[in-house]
Amino acid sequence: MDSIIINGGRTLSGEVTVSGSKNSALPIMAATLLSSGVNRIYGMPDLSDINTMKRLIEHLGAECSVSDGLVINTENIRCCEAPYELVKTMRASFLLLGPLVARFGRARVSLPGGCAIGLRPVDIHIKAMESMGVEFNIDHGYVNASCSRLKGAHILFDLPTVGGTENVMIAACLAKGITTIENAAREPEIVDLAFALKKMGAGIKGEGTDTVIVEGVKELKPLTFTVMPDRIEAGTLMVAGGIAGGEICIKNCPVHCMGSTIEKLRETGLEIEVEEDNVLIKRKGRLKSVEITTNPYPGFPTDMQAQIMALLTLAEGVSIIRETIFENRFIHVAELDRMGAKIKVERDSAVVVGVNQLKGASVMATDLRASASLILAGLAANGKTKVSRVYHLDRGYDSLEKKLQSLGADVCRKRN
Ligand code: UD1
Repeated sequence: MDSIIINGGRTLSGEVTVSGSKNSALPIMAATLLSSGVNRIYGMPDLSDINTMKRLIEHLGAECSVSDGLVINTENIRCCEAPYELVKTMRASFLLLGPLVARFGRARVSLPGGCAIGLRPVDIHIKAMESMGVEFNIDHGYVNASCSRLKGAHILFDLPTVGGTENVMIAACLAKGITTIENAAREPEIVDLAFALKKMGAGIKGEGTDTVIVEGVKELKPLTFTVMPDRIEAGTLMVAGGIAGGEICIKNCPVHCMGSTIEKLRETGLEIEVEEDNVLIKRKGRLKSVEITTNPYPGFPTDMQAQIMALLTLAEGVSIIRETIFENRFIHVAELDRMGAKIKVERDSAVVVGVNQLKGASVMATDLRASASLILAGLAANGKTKVSRVYHLDRGYDSLEKKLQSLGADVCRKRN
C-alpha cells in the first residue's frame, strides 16, 4: 500500500489548477446509460472512484475509452447487474439503479453496506422508486428491481439525500408523466447532473432548489458534456495555502458554489481574493478559531470538515466543529492528536484547542477526506509525517501530492 511522506514547514507559492469534480462525474457517467449511443465527457478527474465506475459500466456492456475526453458507448448494454466486488468499494455505484431500471425495466445492484464514516443506508432511494412503480426484493445482499415503464410520482424525501436526489432524477427522465421530488438536495453537483440530463433531452426544472420537477420523455440522446470543477479539491487546496502559509493562486475554482467554505476560511483570518474562477490565498499572522456546523448545501460541506479541522488545530483559541451529516466522521481526530493537536470529541462535536505547532508522525488515513486532512496537517508539522493507506486519497483526489509539490511542498509518494 502506498504512503505519502511530508517534510513539513515549507511555505507554498505559485499556481495550481483544480481538476473536474468527482461527485459530478460519477452520476453523469451513470446517466449516460439512459441513452443508446456514444457519449463524450470532458474534464474527467483521474481517480480510482472514476475507474471503479468505468469498470462497473463496462461490466454492464458499455465500452469506455479515453481519447478526447472519456468516451462511453452505451449501445450494447447486455447485463443489469452491479456486482458486490465493485460496489463495496464505492457507495456511488448505487447510482446505477436509477438508469438501469428506467431504460431496461430491471436492475440487480449490490447493497453498498456501511463505510467508515457511518451507516449510510439507501432506504430513501428505494422508497422513492417504489412509489414510481418499481418492485424490489433483496436477496443475498443484492437489491433486485423490476418494473414495466416507470411512472411519475410525487416524492417527499425524509432528508435531502444527494445520491437519492440524483438516482430518482435520473430514473424520472424516462418515466411516464411528471415526478416531483420535495425536500431534494440542492448540491451544485445535482445542478451539473441536471444540465447534463437536459443536454440529453430531459425535461427538468427546479434543480438547485428543494423541489425538483422532472417531466419524463420516451427517449434520450447521448451526451457531450464537461463536468464542473471539484469544489472540495478547491477547498482542500485553499486550506493547504492557509496551513502552510505563503501565497498561492488556485485556478479553475467553482467559486459560485463555495460561499460557505470561503466565508469560514476568511473567518480564520486568511486573506482570500476572488477574481473570476481564480482564488488567491494568503495567510497573515496567527489563525483565529471559528465555530462550524456541517449542513446540506448551501451550508458548510461535511466533505470539508476534516480538512478545516487540520487548519483549526493551529488557530488561536477554541474552535467547535459540529458534524450533522454523518454519525462517525471524526475518525481523523485521533490521528491529528497523534501529531500534537488537542481535539476532543463530544457527541456530534469536536472541540479543537489550538496549539502553536504540530509534530510530524506516522498516521493512518481512514477515509477519503481524512487522508487529505492528515496531509494538510503534515504540511505545517515540524519534521516528517508519513500518511499510510492513501488508497483512500486516490479515490477522490487527482494527483494531490503532485499539485502540492508544484507549489513547493516537500511531499512524495512511497510506493509499496
Ligand atoms: C454524497 C457525496 C459525499 C458527501 C455526501 C453529503 C457523492 C458521490 N458523494 O454522498 O461525498 O459526503 O453526499 O454531502 O456525491 N441517508 C439515509 N438514507 C438514504 C440516503 C441517505 O439515511 O437512503 C443518509 C446518509 O446515511 C447520510 C445522509 O443521509 O447520513 C446524507 O447522505 P447522502 O446525501 O445520500 O450522501 P451520498 O449521496 O451518499
